[in-house]
Amino acid sequence: MNLRLWPTVDFINEEELRGKTVVVIDVLRATSVITTALRNGALEVLVKVEVEEALKLKNENTLLGGERRALKIEGFDLSNSPLEYSRERVESKRIILTTTNGTKTIHRAANADKIYIGSILNGKSVSKILAEEQNDIIIACAGTQGNFSLDDFICAGKIIYDLCNLKQIDMDDFAAAAYMAYSDNRKNLISYIKMASHYKYLVSLGLQKDIEYCFTEDIIEIVPEVRNGVIK
Ligand code: MLT
Repeated sequence: MNLRLWPTVDFINEEELRGKTVVVIDVLRATSVITTALRNGALEVLVKVEVEEALKLKNENTLLGGERRALKIEGFDLSNSPLEYSRERVESKRIILTTTNGTKTIHRAANADKIYIGSILNGKSVSKILAEEQNDIIIACAGTQGNFSLDDFICAGKIIYDLCNLKQIDMDDFAAAAYMAYSDNRKNLISYIKMASHYKYLVSLGLQKDIEYCFTEDIIEIVPEVRNGVIK
């Protein structure tokens, strides 16, 4: 099995994705939101790139969620804080989500054979699924506004580290660097990401609790999968 790590959405080569299994990561916070919403009983999550597309899908059984500049969007029900996606709020609801980087990355991965949603919350479960895969694997990090992001990188490192405990894999140097970053910092992941620009931005908005939650390892067992644009 061969594994490659693509560090930002702009690295996604749509042709190269054919026949591959992809794990999309936007740990702060889109893929943590999706994982949490589905664990808490949401029926499905639909990701939309534009706010207007999301607004058109509003009805009594849907909740609109997401962010622009990490803030709740006018007319939406929920922001992009995973802590808002509680069972009381999301059970039996369809979530329409639009975020700056995460939803774009999921859309760009559409050519892949299989697309999974990865986070720190469900990292071990993601690695277990990957260990059973026959396809080659690409871990596609969203990054932040086209830039490399330490938080996605170390989340990828965790999934790779857990996978290496299950199976021998060949990986590219980027994946190896992520593995080492996680291996060296796994006792204190939050301190590793303190210099990340998105970390600093979220802290400036008072969203420290979201960061702590998104960096809690292996508390969710489900691995959301994207099929025909719907995440379940
Ligand atoms: C995104 O998709 O850009 C992020 O999830 C931003 C955020 O932290 O809300």
